Amino acid sequence: MARNQSKAKNGFPHFMLKEIYEQPEAVRRVIAGRVDAAGRIVLPGLGMSEDKIRTFSKVTVAASGSSRHAGMVGEFMMERMTGLPVEVDFASQYCYRDPVVAPHELTIFLSQSGTTIDTITALQVARRKGAKSLAICNVPDTPLTQNADTTFLTHAGEEVAIAATKSFTTQLTALFLLAAFVAQAHKKTGAATESAVAALQSLPERMEGALATDSECRKSAQLLYRYKDFIYVGRDIDYPIALEGALKLKEISYIHAEGYPTGELKHGPTALVHEGLPLVVLALHDKQDEDSMLRYGKTVSNIREFLEREIPVLAIVNASDTEVAALTPCVLAVPDLPVLLQPIVEVIPLQLLAYHIAVLCGRNVDQPRHLSKSVVVE
Ligand code: AGP
Repeated sequence: MARNQSKAKNGFPHFMLKEIYEQPEAVRRVIAGRVDAAGRIVLPGLGMSEDKIRTFSKVTVAASGSSRHAGMVGEFMMERMTGLPVEVDFASQYCYRDPVVAPHELTIFLSQSGTTIDTITALQVARRKGAKSLAICNVPDTPLTQNADTTFLTHAGEEVAIAATKSFTTQLTALFLLAAFVAQAHKKTGAATESAVAALQSLPERMEGALATDSECRKSAQLLYRYKDFIYVGRDIDYPIALEGALKLKEISYIHAEGYPTGELKHGPTALVHEGLPLVVLALHDKQDEDSMLRYGKTVSNIREFLEREIPVLAIVNASDTEVAALTPCVLAVPDLPVLLQPIVEVIPLQLLAYHIAVLCGRNVDQPRHLSKSVVVE
């Protein structure tokens, strides 16, 4: 058994690391055949025509854990690309709050396993209330996919480690494709969508670029693994990635970590911040996007202020960054991409950082305590 397991790890010390490295290939599979030569999104497997898509006036997403974080990124993608209102909820809350379902509502349920009881129950509630349901799932033929009106399989391949990694980035890619498809149906495609769709084919290669931060992530982990608390921050579409980075760290290293919108720190959490609490700051930018540059400017001045207060800062930046790098050497740089695709690469150094910290803490990385891959109890 032990020998089979080590063979299945393909030379990697843990499944989690192997699965982190499998992400570019997994994302390549999600994209394959889904963008035609004219740059149009084709999703024949979705079982929903563009006419049907045009009837939707609202989207709701319900999911748990990392899958909910993916849904939160999807909210930014979908609202920005389609103009439709999007709401995201914890599946475990959606099923008890007697949600109001709009007459033309698409309800999306995201799950790696398709067996998460909270998400299955939320799907049943939505269907009872008349919503059209779409399951975005990695595993085919699960209770979730069998109960949904239609399914988008992410084909990330088997994910053995408890920590979601490749299932997360493939969910993000699927949500991006779906948002672009809905935008196309609603004839809403603007410059931001077009430049992101044009960059999609280069995404796997950019993810490989993000994997190249691995040795830097290990060095950062060596500097940080003895701290007891961490705060992760990000603005706008980067905020759910801050939540995801904090979740990765806490679930596999058992170190306390929280994620906040960067702009929210001053409304309370900043009282916690001191020289003994590292801040992991998502400080990405997209030169083609004015709003992104405004957010970046604010984040740069936040970082300057944190450093003046002698707070340990680790910043995730773009390869073309110069401003943050001029303030601190503690940066992890990922390749540049349009803002709508950035979350798919910026999460990679956060996965690697959590992995290396957990290893240094001597944790059972693939099988953290009290957790299971499929949460079948409420
Ligand atoms: C993430 O690393 C977790 N293991 C966990 O939050 C997971 O995403 C959650 O339990 C939902 O699982 P699902 O995607 O299989 O529904």
